[in-house]
Amino acid sequence: MVLENGVKHMSSGVFPVQGQIIWPGSCYWGAGALSRAMQAARSRLHRPLVVSDAGVWAALGPVVAEEFAALDWQVYDGVVSNPSLGQVREALRVAQAHGCQSVVAVGGGSVMDVAKLTLACLASGLEVDELTTSNGQAWLSEPASTLDPFFMAVPTTAGTGSESSTAALIQGEDGRKHLFRSTRARPSVVALQPDLTLSLPSRPTAHGGFDAVLHALGAWVNQDHSPVGKAMALHALRICMKALPAVLVAPGSLQARAEMQMGAYLAGVAIGMCKVDAVHALCTPLESRVHTAHAEVLGPVFSVVSRHTIEKAPAPYAEAARALGLPSAGDERSAALSLIDAVEELSVQAGIPIHFEDLHLTAEDAHLLALQAQRSASLPLHPCELGLDEIKSLYLQMAS
Ligand SMILES: [Fe+2]
Repeated sequence: MVLENGVKHMSSGVFPVQGQIIWPGSCYWGAGALSRAMQAARSRLHRPLVVSDAGVWAALGPVVAEEFAALDWQVYDGVVSNPSLGQVREALRVAQAHGCQSVVAVGGGSVMDVAKLTLACLASGLEVDELTTSNGQAWLSEPASTLDPFFMAVPTTAGTGSESSTAALIQGEDGRKHLFRSTRARPSVVALQPDLTLSLPSRPTAHGGFDAVLHALGAWVNQDHSPVGKAMALHALRICMKALPAVLVAPGSLQARAEMQMGAYLAGVAIGMCKVDAVHALCTPLESRVHTAHAEVLGPVFSVVSRHTIEKAPAPYAEAARALGLPSAGDERSAALSLIDAVEELSVQAGIPIHFEDLHLTAEDAHLLALQAQRSASLPLHPCELGLDEIKSLYLQMAS
């Protein structure tokens, strides 16, 4: 749906902002979500390729297989965390060998990301390596076609929001992480069934929840104008800030799991519409260097970047703090600070340090990282402008 596009202002020229609201697919949530989603999707699941990882598939394969009983389907369960293009290549080979015409992702963010790019290759006829070329980028940026293969997602973690976002993060042959974005490689049907996340161990539960908090916050504070994206971001932040401590205290609570799952899903919708901020923009290049879990890079990057940002642009942080009912002295900076303190407390509660223990960067390292961060589409949306030298200085602060 086009919200504003070339609309003339009554008195003086072109209205200054415009955008497009592209809704995600149908989401079935709560009890029996998988069966209900399958009922809706069955007629479009032509020879599905199920993409998963070995651990998830061993635990949940029988549950999924029962739902797929009448279908001719194939599984690729070779996804590992921080997946590479090599795994997309393998999944694609399995899909092509069996004539698969649709994709079902069963797993966490890494599984979703591999499934998204496998689907993009199946749909476009392009090889994996071609996705980074102008041909691949052109296909990814086009609107979805009714001829595109059907894509369904069954998340078994709550965090990345990949089931509802337009992004896929995959490691390239050069060891660097590459971010692909496409609304047409986003699932058409999602099943959010909370009991499928019950067996998730405490570390990925904590890490995923913290990631979702920073997706919601990044989409809220940034300068994107999407009204629906902003509404989703603030509501996702509200849910995630409450659900994360609840799920850490009571991992067996279906209520807490369901709220965490919904918070992460809505945060994914928000970042699909608004993107994020400099926290994720500075995190991605650093992750390629330190090879640490995403959340463990996010914690320290959030602390340094957000404390720096509120000195220049406290307003969106303060507004979120008030919406969340966080107590503060009342002025803009104090309110913004109360939100940052609350997120840092949550980080510590989740076992995620807010300082790097062992990060050593030279000025040259920081310069190269800053150059890479500048390529992020989210950086220009950050609440305040961050120049190259400023980003470099932020990286050096993280290392001190
Ligand atoms: Fe993230």
